[in-house]
Amino acid sequence: MELRLDGTTALITGGSRGIGLAIGYRMAEAGANVVLSSRKADGLAEAAATLSGLDGQVATVVAHVGRPDQAVSAVAQTIDHFGACDILVNNAGTNPYFGPMVDISVEAMQKTYEINQASILTFAQAAWHQYMKEHGGSILNIASIGGLGPEPGIGWYNVSKAAVIHTTSQLAYELAPSVRVNAIAPGLVKTDLARALWEGREEAVAKHIPLRRLGEVDDIAAMALFLSSSAASWITGQTIVIDGGTTNQPTGGVS
Ligand SMILES: NC(=O)c1ccc[n+]([C@@H]2O[C@H](COP(=O)([O-])OP(=O)(O)OC[C@H]3O[C@@H](n4cnc5c(N)ncnc54)[C@H](OP(=O)(O)O)[C@@H]3O)[C@@H](O)[C@H]2O)c1
Repeated sequence: MELRLDGTTALITGGSRGIGLAIGYRMAEAGANVVLSSRKADGLAEAAATLSGLDGQVATVVAHVGRPDQAVSAVAQTIDHFGACDILVNNAGTNPYFGPMVDISVEAMQKTYEINQASILTFAQAAWHQYMKEHGGSILNIASIGGLGPEPGIGWYNVSKAAVIHTTSQLAYELAPSVRVNAIAPGLVKTDLARALWEGREEAVAKHIPLRRLGEVDDIAAMALFLSSSAASWITGQTIVIDGGTTNQPTGGVS
């Protein structure tokens, strides 16, 4: 089955590298016009160059996802450029703090909330009001398996990802039938964001993953393409776990 997105336009936050750029590649390869968005114009220009020559066209938009006015403007620029915003991928994320959640500063707490959690809604609001309410579409949110339970060191990040999962469910309910809203919850993927968790210890980490390897960005991008395509036209409100089996293991509890 070949998944195609010809004639559609996709706006991808955090599109300059990592998972977002891989999603952009897959979507442009499938014929979508792709708008890569992030904070830094240089990184975006380099990223856009890697997508040239694919079936869809590529444009870039500088936007900080923590600023609601920039969500409005990113969607507006997408529509100005390609005449549509059929697919929104809320992918940008951050983790400014590592340690016990009980000791996190208010600043780190707020930053995590604004970038990982609130931005999912501000971008969805912008896409809905400017385009999808009239034309329909699809929204994909990048959560994390951390949003499914406790974990050392990244507790508040994980709380924000739990909120992404619930926001996905709520938006899917509110925006049906014209807009589908789904999420992907990745396990550990080899990107800059997660570098501290895997660099120099890949083999040791992989031993704890049933499929015995860390995630690659394309493991996530392939599912992003599927969920955004017509092949997934009866799927909404779902969070798909992609983690090499990390969350599918004995709990170690007393039975
Ligand atoms: N890697 C993993 O193991 C993993 C696991 C589970 C979930 N995730 C989630 O997957 C998503 C993508 O992460 P990644 O691993 O691909 O990270 P990454 O390689 O570090 O890329 C992050 C992207 O987000 C952009 N970004 C960061 N802060 C931003 C902001 N305030 N406004 C707009 N753009 C911003 C960055 O570009 P600029 O610096 O130019 O802004 C970059 O394009 C995140 O939501 C992350 O939480 C990752």
